[in-house]
Amino acid sequence: MSDGWRVPARATTNAGRSIVVTGAGSGIGQATVQVLAGQGANVVAVDLTPESLAWLDEAPELAGVVRVSGSVTDESTNAEMVAAAVKAFGRLDAVALNAGIVVLGDITRGSIDDYDRVMDVNVRGVVLGLKAALAVMEAGSSVVITGSISGLGGDSGLWAYNAAKAAVVNLARSVALDVAHRNIRVNAVCPGATHSAMTAGVQGHQQGQAMAARVPLGRFAQPWEIGEVIAFLASPASSHVTGVAIPVDGGTMADNGQWATYGARAAGFQ
Ligand SMILES: NC(=O)c1ccc[n+]([C@@H]2O[C@H](COP(=O)([O-])OP(=O)(O)OC[C@H]3O[C@@H](n4cnc5c(N)ncnc54)[C@H](O)[C@@H]3O)[C@@H](O)[C@H]2O)c1
Repeated sequence: MSDGWRVPARATTNAGRSIVVTGAGSGIGQATVQVLAGQGANVVAVDLTPESLAWLDEAPELAGVVRVSGSVTDESTNAEMVAAAVKAFGRLDAVALNAGIVVLGDITRGSIDDYDRVMDVNVRGVVLGLKAALAVMEAGSSVVITGSISGLGGDSGLWAYNAAKAAVVNLARSVALDVAHRNIRVNAVCPGATHSAMTAGVQGHQQGQAMAARVPLGRFAQPWEIGEVIAFLASPASSHVTGVAIPVDGGTMADNGQWATYGARAAGFQ
């Protein structure tokens, strides 16, 4: 017998939890909505426009998902999404601050406008989401920020994105410390290359093949594979995990880049 403890009978999934997902119109956010709803969560889906959430019309099993449209860079959108969760489901148990954009090109050609846009959505949007959610969250709640392995190391041609993702990874650690005494957890998920609209431009091109070859598991993630880890961090199953940045990258960050990966060898590079 165990020494005075029992595995709690509570669900280790998100059944019955009230959860907001931003960037829910596509890719990782869209998959996260599906994973969470599949676990029985009550979900608020947030994206720029009603049209970007229209995919929900095609999924009758997601009829209960509440929709909020607007930019996460606006305080009003963040207030509205939190209020929508409280109004529809009585409270807010978790929020997946996932909306993000990327701008490609090296710093010598990139503009300050590009930088401002990337920081606005990827950092300011997350800060506003944190402030709005933490104002109503109670003990046992969880915040999951979508960082990136681009926040854990550099990429060529992604300077603004690298800066923004590094900022939110450290923001997760910092805010985790600020709210730990309330038993609220804050973590970052750091995807590697993942199939979504964001990476559609490299799919089927040499660049996409080269990226997949850099992944020890030899392929891009499917968006739901990131959604499953977001769901774990949102749920009570991760009740002692806070202030971490978890790579979900097929082993990319485990590799120092010196040798050809299994993925590269499988793709014919020796
Ligand atoms: N795809 C990848 O390879 C990858 C890797 C690491 C991290 N990420 C991160 O994962 C997150 C999701 O990206 P994705 O790959 O699903 O991309 P995606 O482009 O498929 O989806 C992003 C969604 O965010 C929405 N969005 C953009 N700006 C917004 C704003 N201001 N307000 C509200 N919604 C907004 C878009 O409309 C879109 O629906 C992002 O934070 C991204 O940086 C993606």
